[in-house]
Amino acid sequence: MQKTSNKKNNTLAVVGTQWGDEGKGKIVDLLTEKADIVVRFQGGHNAGHTLIIDGDKTVLHLVPSGILRPHVKCYIANGVVVSGEKLLQEIQQLERVGIDVKERLLLSGDCPLILKFHEAIDIARENKKDSATIGTTGNGIGPAYEDKIARRGIRLSDLQNLELLSEKYKALADFHNFQLNHYYSIQPLSSLENWEHLLAIREQLLPMITDTVSCLHQAYNEGKNILLEGAQGTLLDIDHGTYPFVTSSNTSIGAACTGTGLPTSKIDYVLGLAKAYTTRVGNGPFPTELDTKDNPVGKHLSLKGKEVGATTSRARRCGWLDLPLLRRTTQLNGIDSLCISKLDILDGIKEIKVCVGYQIDNEEHSSSPLNASLLEKCQPIYKTLQGWSEKTSGVTVWEELPENAKNYLQFISEQLALPISLISTGAERGHTIQKQSYF
Ligand code: IMO
Ligand code: MG
Repeated sequence: MQKTSNKKNNTLAVVGTQWGDEGKGKIVDLLTEKADIVVRFQGGHNAGHTLIIDGDKTVLHLVPSGILRPHVKCYIANGVVVSGEKLLQEIQQLERVGIDVKERLLLSGDCPLILKFHEAIDIARENKKDSATIGTTGNGIGPAYEDKIARRGIRLSDLQNLELLSEKYKALADFHNFQLNHYYSIQPLSSLENWEHLLAIREQLLPMITDTVSCLHQAYNEGKNILLEGAQGTLLDIDHGTYPFVTSSNTSIGAACTGTGLPTSKIDYVLGLAKAYTTRVGNGPFPTELDTKDNPVGKHLSLKGKEVGATTSRARRCGWLDLPLLRRTTQLNGIDSLCISKLDILDGIKEIKVCVGYQIDNEEHSSSPLNASLLEKCQPIYKTLQGWSEKTSGVTVWEELPENAKNYLQFISEQLALPISLISTGAERGHTIQKQSYF
């Protein structure tokens, strides 16, 4: 197994190396024991980060996964697209169960707002019959990022100036209603109703807006521990993922800089998360996919892994671990070490296959090109490893893992030439084997 290290870091970025749902919520919550600040830096409420503490389940979409630790401050930084409505709902839900959020949550004024129009366009597009759909979460993420790039978007800081806000809002409402009405043949949304709605939530959002860039730099210089929480996974990255079946943000490590204002020199450690197998929600290529109805292993992963989307409740597609994809995504992120999650879901599978290469047009590839059309026609080359019948669920020390489980992890580590510093053996916070400290 590749060696782990115990160097002290100020910032730790946690990024997904597959198609999302690698267990980022659980791992961020776990590592926040030693963090002062947790920051979301891209994506929006398309994320579904599940935390289970003493049997109680919390699903977070926008609020950073450090919120359950009372000593931690949470930032939503400039790279995140924010639905004010969804954010306030999430805060309310947390406050209802006694978690104090508003005092500890800060928002960057530069975050683009997701408005009702964005959601309507996202859904209209997905329902349009004449083109291949992406299978988005329908949360308006894409259209909100489009407005950001087109430089017509409304930012959280725009809520501070009503006159300017009203002008920008009117122009945007006209633009989107025209599209809804004349291109998608859908009833336009009431601009007035949505304007009033925006005014209603404005008052509650204003006190949380701050200059998160300054706050982060100050915290870094004071030696505070900062955890950067990625959302989605690298295969959903707008530039590097399986385009066009991707999300609309950069989900790989570059976004930890552009989405926070921290320079590359201040990203000290990158922890890459991978499930012990592969899942995907939404459409697009998936070379190692197994049928979750007819294939017994596919069915096992789906049922035992409870592979249902935390945001949209859609069944996740399931398949074997794919090393060519991981070779590519670990390279893209400059991963320092790996966390392998959901190892326990493989308990009881007799023979475990791992994709070690692809055959594409009679040529073998060990690292995957992420081009969707190439991926569609690749044939996975598998290596079969012996499974284990013992339980790994809840195991907290390496030595207690069954030999074949250790072999499986060692094989992954060697193939990717990366240490595995963390292994998750269950959904609970404590069901973890941690081989090094990060802060
Ligand atoms: P977490 O943070 C898994 C997927 C959607 C769809 C594609 C585009 O929980 O890992 P979007 O609504 O973003 O425009 O949809 O991206 N997707 C995710 N899949 N986990 C996520 O987040 C995802 N967020 C978006 O299913 O295929
Ligand atoms: Mg999720």
